[in-house]
Amino acid sequence: MIKILFLLFILQIEVAYNDQNIPIVVTTWNFLNSTIRAWDILQNGGSALDAVEQGATVCEEQQCDRTVGFGGSPDEDGETTLDALLMDGKTMNVGAVAALRRIKSAISVARHVLEHTTHSILVGDQATDFAKQMGFHEETLTTAESKKLWMKWHNENHCQPNFWVDVTPDPSKHCGPYKPVIHVKPRKYTGPHVDQYNHDTIGMVAIDQNGDVAAGTSTNGAKYKIPGRVGDSPIPGAGAYADNAVGGAAATGDGDLMLRFLPSFVAVEEMRRGTPPTQAAQAAIGRIRTHYPDFMGAVVALSKDGEYGAACNGIAAFPFYVRDRNHSKSGPVIVEC
Ligand code: GLY
Repeated sequence: MIKILFLLFILQIEVAYNDQNIPIVVTTWNFLNSTIRAWDILQNGGSALDAVEQGATVCEEQQCDRTVGFGGSPDEDGETTLDALLMDGKTMNVGAVAALRRIKSAISVARHVLEHTTHSILVGDQATDFAKQMGFHEETLTTAESKKLWMKWHNENHCQPNFWVDVTPDPSKHCGPYKPVIHVKPRKYTGPHVDQYNHDTIGMVAIDQNGDVAAGTSTNGAKYKIPGRVGDSPIPGAGAYADNAVGGAAATGDGDLMLRFLPSFVAVEEMRRGTPPTQAAQAAIGRIRTHYPDFMGAVVALSKDGEYGAACNGIAAFPFYVRDRNHSKSGPVIVEC
């Protein structure tokens, strides 16, 4: 009798385990190759951290949409710099790099910050020095394509668009250097025209066979940014967030606005209160829309049980990829904004 009860108990545990839709990976935008790489790792029993790191690495190498990796989004000086984040939902440990210069593998450097330091974020040239110590190769991130793009912006378009306000000479007509002008009435800045090809981030959330959650991002930020600018992607809670007790989320879009609202953290906290992922993502987006109705951005949310959803604003539709037991070949899920 005891033996039968024990077998029934084990069976129940297995059913409960199998009820969970894990392993699973969710990726922002049409970044299929990254999703395939991550799913490959998860399917073979690999960790969520490996899946997110390796998945985002594919995008960095393939220069996805030219908004991830080297040779995209030159800043005002024509240089490409990278932001990336990796968060471990099991330990709540974070590794991130911001405005990383001359190193291609931003998310892997972030992983080294996570695993080989007790810091969370390293920036700029010092992040480069750290990466070199960790064995990464230093090389230019500028390509013929990014140089051409920057030359056109600088020489033909007179540095338009740019991110300056209340400076002289008039930044809507002239290049810098600029000096501040004090206006009696501060103007509300909404940024230059932004779309998915100007603020596009790979954001990934994965859950492995053990139920461990990881989330991460990688991007080259905003085109023609002021050198030194850091976006939402490397900021925990803004670009991505993960907590084994709840799930994870990742964000993409106009990072200068979005990081003020920590949308990934908001989505995870909504799920912690029992809100389903789609509504949790909507709540995170809604919080930003209240203040910036036209902002461009999206959030993907994944619960620890493998339920997922997304929400977006400022574009017609937002595609994202899912790979789990039920979606081994399907195309992107499209959310209307
Ligand atoms: N979401 C990318 C950025 O604005 O930097």
